[in-house]
Amino acid sequence: MNDYITIALPKGKLFKKSVALLEKVGYSAENVVEDSRKLVITNEETKVRFIIAKTVDVPTYVEYGAADIGIIGKDVLLEQEKDVVELLDLKFGRCRLMMAVPEAKLRPELKDYAHLRAATKYPRCAKKYFDKLGIQVETVKLNGSIELGPLIGLSEMIVDIVETGTTLRENKLVEVDSLFTATARLIANRASFKLKFARLRKLVEDLRVVINEEAK
Ligand code: PRP
Repeated sequence: MNDYITIALPKGKLFKKSVALLEKVGYSAENVVEDSRKLVITNEETKVRFIIAKTVDVPTYVEYGAADIGIIGKDVLLEQEKDVVELLDLKFGRCRLMMAVPEAKLRPELKDYAHLRAATKYPRCAKKYFDKLGIQVETVKLNGSIELGPLIGLSEMIVDIVETGTTLRENKLVEVDSLFTATARLIANRASFKLKFARLRKLVEDLRVVINEEAK
């Protein structure tokens, strides 16, 4: 498999743009679709293999070398702290990790949120944030639909991703503070980066050209 490049693609919000971007630099295969029954899709001609993975698993595939490279949000990278090489900011998928509360629970200052509970998919980032603020907050890890937390009384706050703001509005939640902004990143396995350096460097250079062109 050494002459192949295996790419882990995240299902969900980043999927379509990831496929479209890679296609522009010649990394494509037939039927790379999110709901594909085939989870490994190979292009024998260009020697590219795609793995369609659950978003949170992409860094794991790459860390263990099951995939040479992958596309994943910076938010997931910051949360997981996996041992991978970050090759390039792909500039799409811009979102931010923020802290929000129900409108009725807004308090005057950040320190007034001490001793409350926060539901989140990002417990590590949330803990760092609250530690930095110097307030004690209990985090409850959920794997999705974080907004449910305050609605059903599991938590008073949420630390979650906001992209368009629709989910916040629909659930009558208001953003209190932003932790950081994130975009999609190209990541590589450490060993693959060395062993397949020439091919990966070319890929990064080609992607950079496309991204810069699109930014104009
Ligand atoms: C994320 C996030 C919010 C939503 C925000 O969830 O957890 O629920 O997107 O996007 P918006 O500001 O555009 O409304 P995602 O769709 O990734 O799924 P999940 O709820 O299963 O985590």
